[in-house]
Amino acid sequence: MLNQKDLLLFLYKLVDRYIFTQGDRYEYNYNYLNPLAMTDVPQMPLINLPRLPKDEIPSREWLLLVLKAMSVYNINNTAKASSGTVSFSTDDVDSDSVFLSDKLNSLETIEQQINEVKTTEDVNDIAFQLVSTLKEVNEHLSINEQLDEYRNHQDANPTDSNTQFSFEEEFQKIDVQIAEQLEENPDNISFDLDSSEQIAIANLKNIIRYNAQLLELADIQATENAEDGTNVNFGSVGDNYSHTLEDYDNLFRLITKPEIAAKFQQDIVFAYMQVAGPNPVMLKQIKTADPRLPITGEQYQQITSKIIGKADSLDIALQEGRIYLADYSLLEGMVNGNYPRDQKYIYAPLGLFAVPPVGSSSRSLIPVAIKIQQALFTPLHTGTWMSAKSILQMADSNYHEVYSHLGQTHLFIEPFVVATNHLSKDHNLRKLLKPHLEGTVLINYGAHQSLVAPKGSVDKLLASNINSDHELAVKGAQSCLFNFNEVAFPKTLERRGVNDPNQLPVYPYRDDGMLIWNAIHDWVKGYLSSYYSTDASVQNDQDLQKWASQLVSPTGGRLKNFGEDAQGRIKTLNYLIEAVSTVIFTASAQHAAVNFAQRGLMLYPPAFPLARYIPAPTDPNQQENFIDGLPPLDRATDQINLLYLLGSIYYTKLGDYTNSDFHSSPRVQDALKNFQKELKTIEEQIRQRNQSSERLLAYEYLLPSKIPQSINI
Ligand SMILES: [Fe+2]
Repeated sequence: MLNQKDLLLFLYKLVDRYIFTQGDRYEYNYNYLNPLAMTDVPQMPLINLPRLPKDEIPSREWLLLVLKAMSVYNINNTAKASSGTVSFSTDDVDSDSVFLSDKLNSLETIEQQINEVKTTEDVNDIAFQLVSTLKEVNEHLSINEQLDEYRNHQDANPTDSNTQFSFEEEFQKIDVQIAEQLEENPDNISFDLDSSEQIAIANLKNIIRYNAQLLELADIQATENAEDGTNVNFGSVGDNYSHTLEDYDNLFRLITKPEIAAKFQQDIVFAYMQVAGPNPVMLKQIKTADPRLPITGEQYQQITSKIIGKADSLDIALQEGRIYLADYSLLEGMVNGNYPRDQKYIYAPLGLFAVPPVGSSSRSLIPVAIKIQQALFTPLHTGTWMSAKSILQMADSNYHEVYSHLGQTHLFIEPFVVATNHLSKDHNLRKLLKPHLEGTVLINYGAHQSLVAPKGSVDKLLASNINSDHELAVKGAQSCLFNFNEVAFPKTLERRGVNDPNQLPVYPYRDDGMLIWNAIHDWVKGYLSSYYSTDASVQNDQDLQKWASQLVSPTGGRLKNFGEDAQGRIKTLNYLIEAVSTVIFTASAQHAAVNFAQRGLMLYPPAFPLARYIPAPTDPNQQENFIDGLPPLDRATDQINLLYLLGSIYYTKLGDYTNSDFHSSPRVQDALKNFQKELKTIEEQIRQRNQSSERLLAYEYLLPSKIPQSINI
């Protein structure tokens, strides 16, 4: 569990970062393709903690949200282990469940409180509550005793394989290194560490310690279970054991299983993921048949008869703009991964979808065919259809994480952080953008140091090898960075031919996204118009023009096709409004749409496998159980932990500029109030839409209340 360890150690160091003043600067990274980081962040000597400027260090509220989410999944794993065949607790399982559910409720209350903090004391109180809850869990489950017992056993029977990594030793090393740093640079201490501050820091560290203990125990138990074979849950590919959906369901104890678990095998829900899933950006309208998917008119009639109960005509459907393609051919050529063990398989499928004709009982998208390598699968191939859908969803998950999520949001936004920080503190654009860029450099730093580093979680869980993933992430980032003038939300819909609700009636991501886009656009227009009354005033703002030229500079952000001349010169207020709206929409809504579906949907591995573990069927007429290609359960557990964490941190809320520099500025008051009012109306409108039977699952990722201001997770 390398990454979990890294993460805990990193957070432990981050707590100490609060006591350093160093206001270091960072600059553009001139070799960003390789480390997948746009920003060059030097590290502090002795410990590899980033020397970020003070305002890039995450707030304690953010840290507490992360620690709270980690606590939930660590307790979930403990609860899961405790119900296995290996004795875990002296108490019976049911009383443990009641106790743990109660603690889970306490953790949820803590989360609400984090979102309402007003003062540092509030934050410190919450840290204290969190540490107390974890202490109770630790005592109830006798975690220390069990760890001691295990270590004593280990000392008595040392073998190479059971030399355990010790968190406590690592934590102590960090404490010593930090103390040395402080001694060497006493000026760097930000304040006298009074007793309340010392207690606050100790509490944060203890939260991390308790999590480390839970993790250590779950790790030991998983190893022991695998070794003595008493618990087949962690069986690997190639074992005689074959898993069932129930085995995956059993991985969910305190973490609730997403609703998709009960529905993902339905064809219509599978198609719905293209319009309301984690990666709702693939569909392209096609007006003529694609030779790569040679479906005959007759086959199309049979397929539509089977799925919607009446035969549709392919020619008419094409003419009426009702045929859509999800093309994953960008994944072609990616190398199959095999880390940490087991051969994995990535595929580059094509999916063909159709909208039933006007007058049909439902006009929700339906699947027509899936092409995988040379084989063409349709719903008529009952022995392989579920596997084909599973492979397409696997490809979609890989495309989603690396291209749409990491590349097109996290990495795309990073150069704007650096350029914006070069603007003077009182520049209007800096004030507006700052809340939308909070935490992005740090989370990206964490990603390239750990998550997408070789042997990190992406390497472990995704289907391809890590070099191929890096290449794909760079393509994703460049698809926006090199094409800025084409990536405003409405333009992306037009370009894919999915902007007409008459042709594609059910598309929650598009419909909710347009509401948010328009609200952001109105707000940005109101804000910027209060500073720039004419195009000339935009052209004459030297700081603004410098910001733009840094973004396109080959030694800066390296954007292309930015500015009206595509060279980085901003000539009109309208252009500026569109560009700034694009940045804000991507950093808030677009990221929310792809990020939080990780928790709401992708958490369930059978519906969203991150890799395929046996080769794809080559004959559509063969028989195959799709479950045989799913990830082993230890990988599934890691998927749940990781996606739970990444998809649970809601830090800040779109439109809430309480901590901004312009919050009470009279010149933007009308526009701001209007924006906040509009977001409330949209919230209500989306909740109404989610009641409709057209929405097979509620689409909650673009509810304004669930869109953070910035990419910070
Ligand atoms: Fe994210």
